[in-house]
This record gives sequence, C-alpha cells and structure tokens, in this order.
Amino acid sequence: MAVTTRTSLSLTRRPRRLRRTEAIRSLVRETRLTPDCFIYPLFICAGEGVRREIGSMPGVFQLSVDEAVKEAAATKTDGVPAVILFGLPEKKDPEGSAAYDPDAPVQTAVRALKREVRDLVVMTDVCLCEYTSHGHCGIVEGDEIVNDITVDQLVRAALSHAVAGADVVAPSDMMDGRVGAIRKALDERGFDRTAIMSYAAKYCSGFYGPFREAAESTPQFSDRRSHQMDPGNVAEALREVEIDIEEGADIVMVKPALPYLDVLAKVKDHFGYPTAAYHVSGEYSMLKAAAQRGWLDEPRVMMESLIGIRRAGADMIITYYARDAARAL
Ligand code: PBG
Repeated sequence: MAVTTRTSLSLTRRPRRLRRTEAIRSLVRETRLTPDCFIYPLFICAGEGVRREIGSMPGVFQLSVDEAVKEAAATKTDGVPAVILFGLPEKKDPEGSAAYDPDAPVQTAVRALKREVRDLVVMTDVCLCEYTSHGHCGIVEGDEIVNDITVDQLVRAALSHAVAGADVVAPSDMMDGRVGAIRKALDERGFDRTAIMSYAAKYCSGFYGPFREAAESTPQFSDRRSHQMDPGNVAEALREVEIDIEEGADIVMVKPALPYLDVLAKVKDHFGYPTAAYHVSGEYSMLKAAAQRGWLDEPRVMMESLIGIRRAGADMIITYYARDAARAL
C-alpha cells in the first residue's frame, strides 16, 4: 500500500503555522490598537440642548456645551482619554476675533469639561478659519494671508484656551512661527504646563471637505495652498516638523493620515517624537458612504484603517471613529 503524506514540498519555513488560530495570531501580532491612543473631535456650537447631525458625516454632531459634556463623559467611559474641540462662533468678522472671546463656545466648553469630566484630556484646535467671515485661516490683505499679524491673533486664541483650562492647544493654521510665539506667550503668563500639539505637516487636502461643512469654515474665495503643504512633498514635511520641535512643540502631527502614511513613518523614525495622525473627515466620510451602500464592511475597514495608521508610526490618532473603535476593542 502506498504511504500517503500530507506534504509534498520540503519546506523549512511555513509562515502559515503562525496564522492557524486567533490565539496564535494574537501572540505574534506586532501592532495593537487600544482605546487610549484615540482623540475624539467635538464641534461646539452655541445654545442649549443642540445636537445637530452633519450631513456629510453621519454619526458626528454639532453640540452645544451641555451636550458636549454628555458626549465627552460617554467618550471617557468608552476608554478614550482625550477630546479636541472645534468652535462654531455666533459671529464672524474679517479678523476672526471670536476666536479669543472668553465666552465663545470653545472656551465655555473647556471650562465645563474640565469641571465635569474627571481626568479628561482637553485639547483645542487653534485656527481662525472657523471665525473669519471669509473662511480663511488668517488675516487677509488683497489676495494674501498675512503671516505675522495672523500669528498675533492665534496667540490670543491659544491663550484664551489656556486660561479656560485646556491641557493642550493645537495650532492647525500652518502660519510660520506660530508654535514659538504661542510657547513664549504661554510661558510669560505662567502657562508653562499647557502643552502644544502642532499640526506640523498639514497638507492642502481635498479630504477636509466634510469638516468644512461641520465647522462652517469653507473659504469664500481661493484656497489654502499658500500655507498648507503640497501633497507631493515629504522632505519638506521633515523640515516643518523640525522647525516646530525647535519652536517648542510637544507633539507633532501629520494630516491627513491614510494618503500620507509614508510621511508619518518618516516623521516617527526621524525624530522619535510623540506623533499624532489625523484621520480626517473625508477619510471617515468615504468609509461611511461606502458602508451605507453595502459596499464595504464598516467595522472591518474602520479597524484596518486605524491599525494601518498606528503601524505607520502614530502614537495617537485623532478620529471620528474614536468611540466606535474603542467600543469594538
Ligand atoms: C483648521 C482645521 C481643518 C481641519 C482641522 N483643523 C480644516 C482645514 O484646514 O481646512 C480638518 C479636519 C478634518 O477634515 O477632519 N481649523
């Protein structure tokens, strides 16, 4: 009788041995997601009891301060340690002066969140685009966004967030010199413990589209090419990150995430610095839209996207999926 063997190839290396069961796969898994690497964005508006869903971002809401407190408390319960706040002011002007109004939605929300949600890390986005009548990230003269006077406004905004009690201020404007100016102003007023997360390598991206609906910050003319980075550049991203670290950034960010994973990996390798990635609105919306049509399995592609971002080098991920992913883990 013929002897039957299962093997016909004489292989010493069979990588499939370690993929046989979930328990084995888990032992050799190199990258893990945990809820404590997520940061959840919140859009804060005026009023009370407001919870208004954003059309292009199903599951994401504009929230009044009282609703934001509930949302943040639930976020903390899900195991997510941090939120980042964006503001929808009641009034806009060419200078974006509502950005540093102590009674505007963001400043009010910071005070409420620090008072009511124990141990929550409260971060604030620092930019003028939500506050200017023209929707640009700075002061406009002619067709130019003027750098240095814009930085003065950003410093005022960051200070007002620190005074309200923010743990981390996050300038997202891409003006030159803003990290250093904010660091200096914070230190001079005794806010040496307030950290800076800089949107260091922020690209000029079409993936911010849904956010601009959420934050009502679409530029009324032209675009953001004069300050946000060109998508083809990576050496420049390293220079941007280096400048921000020299100016005093505590955390550096790459944004968007998925189309820029190579940039993220290089930034983490090169500087070994605390590194954040922003999985932006368009990255969220495209998964949502495909899932709603039954074209993609949302829980799977959510986790696959987030683990890819982490594998590329992100220590922390800002994502609209923070709560869903934390609950699934
Ligand atoms: C600027 C800012 C933007 C985002 C975060 N901060 C928009 C922009 O630069 O136009 C985008 C975030 C997202 O798309 O989720 N304040």
